[in-house]
Amino acid sequence: MATETTTEVGPDELARQLIDKGVLSSDWLPAFKAVPRDRFVPDAIWPGRAGMNRQDDRVLRSESPEMWWRAVYTDAPITTQWDDGTYSGPGKGRTPSSSSSMPTMVFSMLNALSVEPGNRVLEIGTGTGWNAALLSHRLGDQNVVTVEIDTTLAGEARTRLYAADFAPQVIVGDGGLGYGKGSPYDRIIATASVGNIPSQWIGQVHPDAIIVAPWGPVYGGEAVARLVVDEGGVASGQFISSSAFMRIRQQRKDLPLTEQFLDSAKWPLDAVRSKTNLSPDDVGDWICMFAIGVQVPDLFCRVTQGEDDSYRLWLFDTGVTSWASADYVKGRAEFEVAQAGPRKLWEELEGAYWWWHQQGRPGFDRFGLTTRGGPDFKVWLDDPASPVPVRKAG
Ligand SMILES: C[S@@+](CC[C@H](N)C(=O)[O-])C[C@H]1O[C@@H](n2cnc3c(N)ncnc32)[C@H](O)[C@@H]1O
Repeated sequence: MATETTTEVGPDELARQLIDKGVLSSDWLPAFKAVPRDRFVPDAIWPGRAGMNRQDDRVLRSESPEMWWRAVYTDAPITTQWDDGTYSGPGKGRTPSSSSSMPTMVFSMLNALSVEPGNRVLEIGTGTGWNAALLSHRLGDQNVVTVEIDTTLAGEARTRLYAADFAPQVIVGDGGLGYGKGSPYDRIIATASVGNIPSQWIGQVHPDAIIVAPWGPVYGGEAVARLVVDEGGVASGQFISSSAFMRIRQQRKDLPLTEQFLDSAKWPLDAVRSKTNLSPDDVGDWICMFAIGVQVPDLFCRVTQGEDDSYRLWLFDTGVTSWASADYVKGRAEFEVAQAGPRKLWEELEGAYWWWHQQGRPGFDRFGLTTRGGPDFKVWLDDPASPVPVRKAG
């Protein structure tokens, strides 16, 4: 018979783990204790794994209460919606569109927000409502506005918030526009990622406000940015940790289909063939992808799996002018490359890779972002005066 021990799966054990990791501070512990995650996670879930974009099969609380409970009190993300709600199971949809974020990420971002009593906070991406409840507990309902694009999710979150005795303002709308009626804010926290910080967010905050938002280029790689807004409307700050959030709907990467490149009458005859010593396997880390994506903003990639762990890394540009491929074969020191179109995309990737390598292979915490909002931004290394070089298209 199971006996009660301190390592029993539940809020106490999860709190212990988060404190051990240094992410659950004494400032947020009372909120963690008062706002149990289980009151915000829906009945149907697809448990995720820490640091991986993979989901387990659907778990229903009604059918498997112990599995459900274990997932809720594991430090991992939980997918709660697929394909904007058009898919409801029992399997998995194509793309996760809402989740309860990994608790480590939730509290790291809340810590980075550096809230002070009386601060007014705008959250983008209500999701389950857990984060809004934590903020409401800390700052008071009247100081929290949370925006969710999905009407059903917003309604469900509102119901859970009220049931747990919280009443922040839950707005249905595009959080990319902020929420002007509730402004000005002292803090903005986005729990969906962006490729451009919306200018509305910067316009809706006081000077010295802090914006915490996951940011990533088209190519891949993403990290949470912590930006401070100055009096002139410039937001600037460092990246604090690697992340993998879903994009806000309006900034999703709707990338051209592979067929658009391969249907070209020119393909494959004009492809220039060569060999490279840079293994396609050495350019796939999240931070490496980030460094490449920042330098070549219109580059994106796909992978075609082959046999025996081999694969083809495809490179494309969003303007549909050029493509390249590099073939990874395990154990080889040289890899076949093909490049077609006016741009040599593999060479552009190699240039970006070697720049990053020469800088000492910096991690996310050496990069920073400065922006006035929208496409007007620069990513820098160590210092805002040292922008990362950007290879312009064409
Ligand atoms: C990772 S989930 C948020 C988790 C949430 N903070 C919680 O505590 O459960 C991201 C959410 O952002 C929402 N979202 C996507 N685009 C949005 C937008 N433009 N405005 C507001 N919410 C958006 C998604 O529908 C999804 O619910």
